[in-house]
Parts: sequence; structure tokens; C-alpha cells
Amino acid sequence: MKIRIKRDSGIIDYNLDLEDITLLEALNSIKTTQDSTLTYSSGCRSSVCGSCSMRVNGKEVLACSYKLKDGDLVEPLKNLPIIRDLIVDMDKAYSFNKKAKAWQSSLSKDIPLTPEDEKINELQSDCILCASCYSACPVYAVNGEFLGPFTLTRMWRYVSDKRELNKKEKIDDIQTNGVWDCTLCNECTLACPQGISSKVDIEKLRFKSSEYGYIDPSFSSGFGFGGTSFDGSPSF
Ligand code: SF4
Ligand code: SF4
Ligand code: FES
Repeated sequence: MKIRIKRDSGIIDYNLDLEDITLLEALNSIKTTQDSTLTYSSGCRSSVCGSCSMRVNGKEVLACSYKLKDGDLVEPLKNLPIIRDLIVDMDKAYSFNKKAKAWQSSLSKDIPLTPEDEKINELQSDCILCASCYSACPVYAVNGEFLGPFTLTRMWRYVSDKRELNKKEKIDDIQTNGVWDCTLCNECTLACPQGISSKVDIEKLRFKSSEYGYIDPSFSSGFGFGGTSFDGSPSF
């Protein structure tokens, strides 16, 4: 089978005598038997470390779980600086966690969590920091200051924790280049290998923002364009 890989020097075709393999197995085979200069990253080989994210035929995948098909075009993630071949610099995306202070600020130890409370943000805690959602996000593609999907998902994870005492402060920190800049296009959800929907988390953060008196800036500017209700449907 043939695999096409976009490298620093351009798209290169490789032929493999293997069938029914993952993309990572194909890359390992090429590196050990054909071209030792091919560069990519991987770690766990079991979809938990997030280090092997890349794109196949324009869609974000984890190389260790994607089953290779004949003629696939493999490229690095979009919207992040390429270090070499299929390795991108994810630090820019991770830096938004720091900018938004996406962590527990003030934890009350006196408020017990029930199993139901834990379920509220269980899924968001499963993020493996693969940055696929940043690659897929059209807003981040044009605004490098947009806090982006996983940072906003992480903010929801803490805002929704009933032990967090500084919810208002957290909501304040995501008003600029944050919740209102998202177009709710859902591309991040489709790209996420963990089934996390940052789009849905952003809708919840918008609802929470409105509880603290914030309104969609597109309404306040008088244009009334782009507003959405809690369920994501247009609101007028
Ligand atoms: S829903 Fe929002 S965060 Fe997700 S990809 Fe679209 S614009 Fe980006
Ligand atoms: S939210 Fe999903 S796509 Fe985004 S970094 Fe986390 S695991 Fe990856
Ligand atoms: S190698 Fe860890 S997620 Fe693929």
C-alpha cells in the first residue's frame, strides 16, 4: 500500500508491504526500513498520551489508533508551528491554560462531592492534550489570541466544580478572546479523540457568563449577529 507524507521538503510517497496496520506502525516501519530521517512523535501507543496527533486526508487523528488506508495523505496538525515533518510545537496552545488561569483557584474542602457531582465534569478531565481541537478550530486559525477549545473546556471543568469558590473570577478571564469569539461550528468536537465537546462546554460557559451579567458583545454592539442561546440555537 502507498502512503503519502507531507514533510518539510514536500509530499513524499512511500510503499509498504504491510496490511491492516495503524498509521504509527507504518511510520515506524518507514523510519526503520526506508528513511531514518522521518520525524514524528509518539509515546504510549495506546491513545492516552496525545503525542501522536496529526492529520490524515485533512482530519485530525491519533496515529496510534488510526487504521491506515491505501493512498492516505498524512500531514502535521494545522495552526501550530511545525518543528519538523510531523512534529508541531504545542506550547502555544498549552500557553492559553496559563493565560486563562485554567486551574482550580480556591478549593473549598468543606463541600463534599457526590458521585453525581463528579460526573458533571468527568469527561472534560479526560483531555489528553493532543491539540487536535486547535488544529481543527477555524477561529484559532485566524485569531492566534483566541483561548481556544481545550482551554475553554478546562475552564468549564473548574467552573462547574462546586468546590471552586472563585467562579466569577474565572468567568471574567474568558470574556476577551474567549467564549464570545467561538462560532459554535463544532469542528473541535469532531476532532477530539476523547469525545469531548468544547463547543458544548463553551455554550455552558456563555450561559454562566450571562448569569454574571455578561452579554454577547455582538448584541451590545447593536448588530445582534451571531448570538446563541444556551442550547446553541440562534437567539433574537
Ligand atoms: S466550536 Fe468554537 S472552539 Fe470549537 S472549533 Fe468551532 S470555533 Fe473553535
Ligand atoms: S479537548 Fe480533545 S482534541 Fe482537544 S486537546 Fe483535549 S483531547 Fe485533544
Ligand atoms: S502514542 Fe500516545 S496517543 Fe498515540
